[in-house]
Order: sequence, then C-alpha cells, then structure tokens
Amino acid sequence: MTTRVLTGITTTGTPHLGNYVGSIRAAVRASRQPGVQSFYFLADYHALIKCDEPARIQRSTLEIAASWLAAGLDPEHVTFYRQSDIPEIPELTWLLTCVTGKGLLNRAHAYKAMLDKNAAAGADPDSDVSAGLFMYPVLMGADILMFKAHHVPVGRDQIQHIEMARDMAASFNHLYGEHLVLPEALIDDNVALLPGLDGRKMSKSYDNTIALFGPREQLRKQIMGIVTDSRAPGEPKDTEGSALYQIYRAFADDAEAAAFAQAFADGIAWGDAKQALFERIDAEIGPMRERYEQLIAHPEEVERLLLRGAEKARAIATPFMAELRHAVGLRPLQAASGAKPAQPAAKTAASCSFKQYREADGRFYFKLVDAAGQLLLQSRGFESPRDAGQAVKRLQTEGAAALAALADRLELPADGPAPTLREALQALQEAQQA
Ligand code: TRP
Repeated sequence: MTTRVLTGITTTGTPHLGNYVGSIRAAVRASRQPGVQSFYFLADYHALIKCDEPARIQRSTLEIAASWLAAGLDPEHVTFYRQSDIPEIPELTWLLTCVTGKGLLNRAHAYKAMLDKNAAAGADPDSDVSAGLFMYPVLMGADILMFKAHHVPVGRDQIQHIEMARDMAASFNHLYGEHLVLPEALIDDNVALLPGLDGRKMSKSYDNTIALFGPREQLRKQIMGIVTDSRAPGEPKDTEGSALYQIYRAFADDAEAAAFAQAFADGIAWGDAKQALFERIDAEIGPMRERYEQLIAHPEEVERLLLRGAEKARAIATPFMAELRHAVGLRPLQAASGAKPAQPAAKTAASCSFKQYREADGRFYFKLVDAAGQLLLQSRGFESPRDAGQAVKRLQTEGAAALAALADRLELPADGPAPTLREALQALQEAQQA
C-alpha cells in the first residue's frame, strides 16, 4: 500500500537556510522514496491570516514555489499545488467547521497565545484575533483530510493541529460514516536546528537568517557576519557552541565534519573557517541557485507548473468532495435519502450508492458504499470513465449475478463476495426494476 504524505508551506516570507536544512531538503529526499505519494502545497489561504499585503503574498508564493522546485522537488512525481487553486478546500473547511467543537479551537496554542498576550497587555481578550486565526486549525484540517494523508511532516509547533485534524475526522466519520483518514504527525528528530548569524535559532523573528537563494556574494557576506568568539588565528577553537561549526555540520558528511573539527582544534583563523563554510554551502546551493533565478525570472513557468499540480490535486478533490457532500445530505433531491428507517433489504437498496471517481494514477474507479459510507465493493482501475460506467450499469441491472462476470475488474475477497454485498446488489437490482 502506498503511504500518502502531505505538507503545506505558508506563503509568507522568503526561504532561508534554516528552512532548507529543517524541512525542504528532507522533504525533497523523502518525496523520491518508492511507495510514497507526496502532496506539497503552498498554503496561501493560511498566509492571509498573518499577512494583509497582497504583493507580499504573491511574491512569497513565487519565491517559495521556486525554492522547492530549485531544491529538486519533481512536480511530475509529486503533487505540488497552491491551496487557493483548490476550491474544494474551503468547501471541506465548512463541513469540518460544523463538526468541530468551538471548545476544541479555544484550546489551540496559537489562539491561546494571543489571549495571553492580550491579558498581559490588559487588552480585550480577543483584541487583534481574527476569526481566521481562530479557524486556522479547521482550514488546516481540510488541507490534510482532503487528500487522505497518512503522514504529515511538520515541526513540533504543529503537532496539536494534526491532532485536531484527527479529532475532526473522527467526529465526521462518527456522524457520516468512514470517509476520512485519520492523519499522523511525522516529526523528524534528525534534522538539525540551524543556528542563525547570532547563534540563536535561525528565524525570521530574530532577524538572524541567511537567505537560501540570495546572490552568491550576499551569501558570502552573510556568512562572514556569523558571530564568533575573539580567539586569534593559531589558537584552538571550540566546535561546541559554535554556530559556524553547527551550520557546517548541517551541510557536511561525517568525514568533512571531522576534518573541520580538526581544523578548529588546530587553530584555523575564523576568516578561513568562514570561507570554508561559504564554499561548502555554495557547492550544494550554487547549482540550485541557477535554477531558482531562472524560475524567478519566469513566473509564468511556475504558474504553469502550479496549475498543472492543481489539476492533479482536483482530480482527487472533486470526486471526494462530491462523496462528502452526498454523505452529509447535500445531494440531489431525487437521490436515495437513506434517512428514513425501513425494512432491512429496502433500506440497503435505498441507501447504497455507486461512486465513480478518478485516482491520481489517471484511471477510473467506482465503489459501492452504504448509507454509513461503509465500503461494500471496490473496483480496479478502468481506462475510461465509460468502461467504469458500463460495469456499474451491469451491476445495477444484473445484480449479484454480474459479480462473476466482472470478477477480474473488482477487488473481491478470496472467499467470494460478502453476503451484505450480494444483498445490497440484489436490492439495487430490485429497485432498478421497480
Ligand atoms: N500551519 C503550517 C505551518 O505553519 C502550514 C500548513 C498549512 C500545513 N496547512 C497545512 C502543514 C497542512 C501541514 C499540513 O507550518
């Protein structure tokens, strides 16, 4: 079975070296693993919560997309898209909003931090808290649940949001049947926390970052600005607590790191150590920088890639949203309601339905689910929607009798179709004839 991995990047700011070491690099590598289906997206709806400067949102979206592509994310292999190109996401946000307790959202760290800050300032508790900030976890839940993600690689600060997404999925499934997959946060403890120029964690809020794809000369200058102690050339230097060493470590293999540590012990001059660090980073980043600059110079190319990604994402989101709308009762008025209690057989007939959809592999599938959303029958992939439709038609008109003929197009248990499936098909056939 393939594991689906999904993560979002909020489109505020420009990626720095800390982002590269802390997430981009590992994510690009992970996306190339066999047996994983990856979804990476630009969380621009989330960006609106923090940023009300349109030009910055747009610029940041371009820069972050270009950074990920330049760092080697292959949009053919993964699904790389922009959140706001997927209208099903706000649509699912609403369905989730309706199954999410307000109390759950009250407990969100980001929201509580604002309340605390306001309390400390003696301000109104909700001062400067937009409803968007309050709803942030629900939008994030929709991002994740829409694509049935199993694993969500995030930083520790986001774990609570993934747990909330699980809660939302469980509530929804409890009410409407098993439609949503419960996701898990994936925390990589091996990735280095990169120190910034001043030795504290590299972060935009400390203003101590090194740009990931700034011009080469800027990279050199920024590295020369890393804070060191005052030891003179020839004096042995500590690697312990040295930001310079730690940054080097994040780019070097074990042998290189050992050699660098030796140079410290041997009293390398800080200027030479910085030059070595610059060269090491530039060896990795330099080739990517060229691609980055190309992409930034051609936003239309990035736009094209993102729209292509949105198409791939919507091939999943559109049919899934249709399934969810049906599940909650947003459905054509003539559709079987499944709401009124009836005779067991009649109830099965009235409430079972075939769902046709397209998977990321480009093939067409259908499944039969009961009113609770329980899967009764799953097809294999068909080349065309027409082929899938014909198989559905046969099952509807011939009932369980068609199972044998279609056996190689269906995922049936080795010991034959379950009695509930036979019953359901029988009832559907009767309904068809009535
Ligand atoms: N909230 C995440 C962050 O700030 C970004 C994000 C939005 C996200 N939607 C997501 C991450 C869905 C993982 C899954 O880092």
